Amino acid sequence: MSDKRFYIETYGCQMNMADSEVVNSILMDEGMSPVHSAEEADVIFVNTCSIRENAETRVWNRLKEFRSLKKEKKDLTVGVLGCMAERIKENIIEKEQLVDIVVGPDAYRDIPNLLKEVNDGRKAVNVLLSLEETYADITPVRTSGNGVTAFVSIMRGCDNMCAFCVVPFTRGRERSRPLSSIMDEISQLNDQGYKEVTVLGQNVNSYQYEDIDFTKLMDEVSKANPEIRFRFSSPHPKDFPEPLLHLIAERPNLCNYIHIPAQAGSDTMLERMRRPYTRDQYLKLIDRMREIIPGVSLSTDIIAGFCDETEEEHEATMSLMKIVEYDLAYMFAYSERERTLAARKYEDNVPEKIKKRRLTEIIKQQMAIQEKNNKDEVARRHLVLVEGTSKKSDEQLSGRTDTNKMVVFDKKNFKKGDYVEVEVTDYTSATLIAKPIRKSSIAEFYNQTVVTA
Ligand code: 5AD
Ligand code: SF4
Repeated sequence: MSDKRFYIETYGCQMNMADSEVVNSILMDEGMSPVHSAEEADVIFVNTCSIRENAETRVWNRLKEFRSLKKEKKDLTVGVLGCMAERIKENIIEKEQLVDIVVGPDAYRDIPNLLKEVNDGRKAVNVLLSLEETYADITPVRTSGNGVTAFVSIMRGCDNMCAFCVVPFTRGRERSRPLSSIMDEISQLNDQGYKEVTVLGQNVNSYQYEDIDFTKLMDEVSKANPEIRFRFSSPHPKDFPEPLLHLIAERPNLCNYIHIPAQAGSDTMLERMRRPYTRDQYLKLIDRMREIIPGVSLSTDIIAGFCDETEEEHEATMSLMKIVEYDLAYMFAYSERERTLAARKYEDNVPEKIKKRRLTEIIKQQMAIQEKNNKDEVARRHLVLVEGTSKKSDEQLSGRTDTNKMVVFDKKNFKKGDYVEVEVTDYTSATLIAKPIRKSSIAEFYNQTVVTA
């Protein structure tokens, strides 16, 4: 195995990015070496996503492209990892002749064995889900990325069972990773010069390891690494812990940014989606966030056109988004997924044209809100962590504010990994334009600046 070159292509969420880094580590322990394109590789893995149909379609198309590579290169191995694995297991190998290995999200430790089976001329599958696996003892290897921001997974799986969501089926039951292994990984990232960590789980508020809950975890990691800024994704509105809001307000390196998925804005729709909170409770939570953390930035996930959605329910989603004025929103048309409650019990009955129209209305309103929010940013000062040069110009750097807004400014003598104090001069709906003031640090910036709402 040891002379083989591998390439992993990752689709889907941040958790999948983090998983690919675990797989990197497992393969490199076998002596295999990572390469940056499919063409150079002896083994290609596609880490897949099932969240919406278009995610799966993209993967299928990519696998068909790899089939032609396989024709040219007889001993090329192609594997499917992650969320699509369970659904396609034998099917994909026998019917499509596209793939040699299929590995589910809890079976990555088995990849070396599976590769051996393939070497012996067999197809190999392991899609077993686990109640315990957290890959706690595996140190992820970050082969792509900017060397400044990293994801750290703190739990796996999901027990929530939202009616639309396939994740509980693809990733299995919820389980938390031991605090000590999380602390170790972050301390290594700190030594390597990383400056931002986003802790990840399908439902982070339910993190629980022995007597450590999510708030305690955030307390521990942020206290131990004062010059790393911390974000987290995603919490559930049904049980967001209020003590965490106070902690974020007090602790300079816990970012003033919360992604808090609403999905919909009416009680009837939330109930159909099996989201156990009301519009009113959600809005009260948002009020508390803004009271306790003045200036907090909020983002959300929204689904348009879920089963039986009426025009009134759609309007309620629009009005919720207008009230909250999110700084960012991930907006999707509903896509039916096999095995979910919605697929079994409801009808996907909002016509495609209406779904699209509603989604377009939602996006249009959100863009206007973001533009207005960004306009209010002009003349404000922020601490930006530089992530690299801007996509548009080598003479400009880009990075994000504590509140997760993308900022570009002139490079001068600043570099990747610097914390830079900037003043916002202009904006679009997606980006702030700023002038750099000085190189700074978390300690320096938050001691001198009074942050106003
Ligand atoms: N169709 C459309 N969007 C979905 N999401 C989850 N499942 C579906 C689905 N079947 C969205 C939700 C979730 C985000 C990660 O993806 O908004 O929060
Ligand atoms: Fe996609 Fe969900 Fe799996 Fe992430 S957990 S890869 S979003 S299906």
